Amino acid sequence: MTRRVFCEAGMMSGKSKAQKRGSSTHHSGAVRDRKVLDLLAEFKDSAGEVLVVNDRGLLEHPHRWNWLSWGDAAGSTTPPNGPFDTILLRMPRTKATFLYALHMCAGVLGEHGRLIVCGANDEGAKSAGTLLEQVFERSGTIRTKAHCRIWEATGPKEGLKTRVEEWEESIESPFEGRNWYTYPGVFARGELDDGTSLLLDCLPDLKGKKVLDFASGSGMISAAALDRGAGQVTMLEVDALAGLASARNVPEAQLVLSDGWSRLAPEPFDLIVSNPPIHQGKVEDFSVLHALVQRAPEYLFPDGSLIFVVQRQVPIPRLFGPKTFEILAENPRFWVLAA
Ligand SMILES: C[S@@+](CC[C@H](N)C(=O)[O-])C[C@H]1O[C@@H](n2cnc3c(N)ncnc32)[C@H](O)[C@@H]1O
Repeated sequence: MTRRVFCEAGMMSGKSKAQKRGSSTHHSGAVRDRKVLDLLAEFKDSAGEVLVVNDRGLLEHPHRWNWLSWGDAAGSTTPPNGPFDTILLRMPRTKATFLYALHMCAGVLGEHGRLIVCGANDEGAKSAGTLLEQVFERSGTIRTKAHCRIWEATGPKEGLKTRVEEWEESIESPFEGRNWYTYPGVFARGELDDGTSLLLDCLPDLKGKKVLDFASGSGMISAAALDRGAGQVTMLEVDALAGLASARNVPEAQLVLSDGWSRLAPEPFDLIVSNPPIHQGKVEDFSVLHALVQRAPEYLFPDGSLIFVVQRQVPIPRLFGPKTFEILAENPRFWVLAA
């Protein structure tokens, strides 16, 4: 029986975790990014060649490397050719990606170059030294300000892994007849997530259908869509490393590296399927989910539909007002919703 989310008994009872914390968060990740990047900006005019890393276009500078796509720019798995005299790295969100970025940056640093890293204390900047020591001969904190920490590192160690292939990990495949690979920072380390699993159980027969896997991660939803007969699958993903994983795992599908809808051509699909992100790093952030739901109709045939999975703590009525959704499946942790 079809049920509606909005006004669903019990759904509005109590506050979501985000409401209780008072964070809700269209902007808190962005505010922290701005604070960290403002501190890094003080080093932007250092002598020689300077490379800015992981700023997502927020620092005015000609040389940058971002693995996360932003605006009109697609992310890239590798930095531009060096050597650079100073590299400014905005601390990445996961340890795995941080280590990856450190190796890659060390590989394009000039002989007497230095790496400057800045991050907020509540995202682990205090313990960045442990990773820096793995890659550099010398490192230390040079400044603390506004609950952030700035580190400097020099002298890359031997044995750097500066080719993305060296970071590829082959894992047990969830799909018969397909190899499965993952790279640093890929969602659920490339494995099948519980929410995604519930979503996949709800996928209809997709014979000949045109499907968009929005926020594709390792390509789990795309592979399942092809198994159910989809005629054409497009994978949209912000992270070039996740994009590489999905392209390796599901080579039949087309990959578009894009921050939300920004780089997707305006073409309609029969079905958009997603396990959208609800965090930016450790901060809850519903902006991508919001954009997914609000703009999906622009990318759907008139009889097309959107199916997505969300954790039950996501305050759907508060985010989407009177909009109604069909509940396709639910368990104590997740809802699979259709619109
Ligand atoms: C919850 S994971 C789901 C991954 C995959 N679909 C699955 O179910 O295994 C969300 C994915 O969204 C990606 N993502 C985060 N922000 C995004 C954005 N602005 N645009 C597109 N993808 C984004 C993340 O990199 C991550 O791969």
